[in-house]
Amino acid sequence: MHNLTTKLKKLNYFWKRSQVPTQEPVEISIIDKLIIFLICIVISIISSYKLLLVPFLQSSVVVSWFIAFFEILISCGFLILVSRKENPTINSRQILLIISLLLIVQAIKNIFRFTISPLSIIVPPALIISQGMGTITALAWVSIASLSWPDSITEINKTLLLITLICSCIVSVLGGKIRSRAQLLQLSIFVPLGALFTQWLLIGDDQSSLVNNQEYFISNGKIFSDSLLLAIIMLIVILFIPIFESIFGLLTKARLLELADKEKPLIRRLSIEAPGTFEHTLLICGLAEEATRMIGGDIDLIKTGSLYHDVGKLHAPNWFIENQDGSKNPHDEIDDPLKSAEILQAHVDEGLKFARKNRLPKPIANFIPEHQGTLKMGYFLHKAEEKKLNFKESDFRYKGPIPQSKETAILMLADGCEAALRAMDIKASDNEALETISKIVNSRQIDGQLDDSNLSKGEIFLIKKSFLNVWKRIRHRRIQYPTIKNNTFS
Ligand SMILES: [Fe+2]
Ligand SMILES: [Fe+2]
Repeated sequence: MHNLTTKLKKLNYFWKRSQVPTQEPVEISIIDKLIIFLICIVISIISSYKLLLVPFLQSSVVVSWFIAFFEILISCGFLILVSRKENPTINSRQILLIISLLLIVQAIKNIFRFTISPLSIIVPPALIISQGMGTITALAWVSIASLSWPDSITEINKTLLLITLICSCIVSVLGGKIRSRAQLLQLSIFVPLGALFTQWLLIGDDQSSLVNNQEYFISNGKIFSDSLLLAIIMLIVILFIPIFESIFGLLTKARLLELADKEKPLIRRLSIEAPGTFEHTLLICGLAEEATRMIGGDIDLIKTGSLYHDVGKLHAPNWFIENQDGSKNPHDEIDDPLKSAEILQAHVDEGLKFARKNRLPKPIANFIPEHQGTLKMGYFLHKAEEKKLNFKESDFRYKGPIPQSKETAILMLADGCEAALRAMDIKASDNEALETISKIVNSRQIDGQLDDSNLSKGEIFLIKKSFLNVWKRIRHRRIQYPTIKNNTFS
């Protein structure tokens, strides 16, 4: 009995944890909601109106149409909910894309009926959705698109429908994980090949009669042309994915990796005009990546986000300590803590401007304000107190918002620990390093900076541990190995 209650308590705990949203979903305007709702209504109508096309309209027919209509409408609502749960930063344009793809597919089903293979109409959109919105949204979309047919489902080959469902699920799962365009190309070749082989194996022999040779060739010819059409549509979709990315602001893994390229003009500018900030950025990338790996977060997202988090410093690199060569500090020259605080805040505001100009996707741009949160600019606040200036504490705090995701919270912690870890003596012990890390992390926690990030206590502990591991690596690199004359081994 005791065992059962403990198990139930555990189950309840895991259920509650799984229900905690990782991030508050983005608000959608009323007009956008209305447009999305109208499209859902159109989808429901075109998916169910054929039920009413009977010579005698009886009440039972109207009832079954009513049920079919609401079934599709509720499915659309469910799809939107799933997409918002999986991508809290999803915007109305992206929801419109998912819903419009469903509308197009339902319209094609109406126009072409069963003359076009379900493979060619369901698999390619699944690839777009899995790439831009993730596997779960794609799977939800696939299940609705495969189950709702305007015409009687008895006319469709059940085995073909099953093959379509399997291929779409494979594309949805792999599409959400694929990290390069080359892998996408492989997918667009192997999925149609797999579909061709399975169809030939399961349907080809069914439909053809060995007695009638002509029928055998027609059946297999159709299977071949269906798979070829699927391959062509998938290749076209891959060609158009970059256009979808820029129109709908999709953030695919391939786009993330492209943005993380250090040859990108903005990152090149950072390395030339603000070399200190660039070095700081690289070290933070290492810290944040390790911590994200440890807690199972999105590594590609944090790698790219940390590269761009301080691009705003390009507006005035010399005002930031890491870019000063030690000769003069412009903050000492102006000797005005309030002005200095404005300059620090400007690196966030200017960073957001750079993000807009360079069309950085929203999840990446979010790293710019959230890595500073509403942190206190302690040094200048202290100076203002010393000078007995008239000020509010908020004048010496960043404008925020505080980190809204685990990844941006990790970046804030890495940003805070980087300078302290770099300045540590190489002879310092692991305990001393961990103490320094804990002090910085705890101060941000007490300040309420991690309140919206949904990081658990266990995850914060793992983050501290991973920062320590990175520091040990850095220390290891900095240790000078004793060299022996004529040493030929290494
Ligand atoms: Fe910063
Ligand atoms: Fe930074």
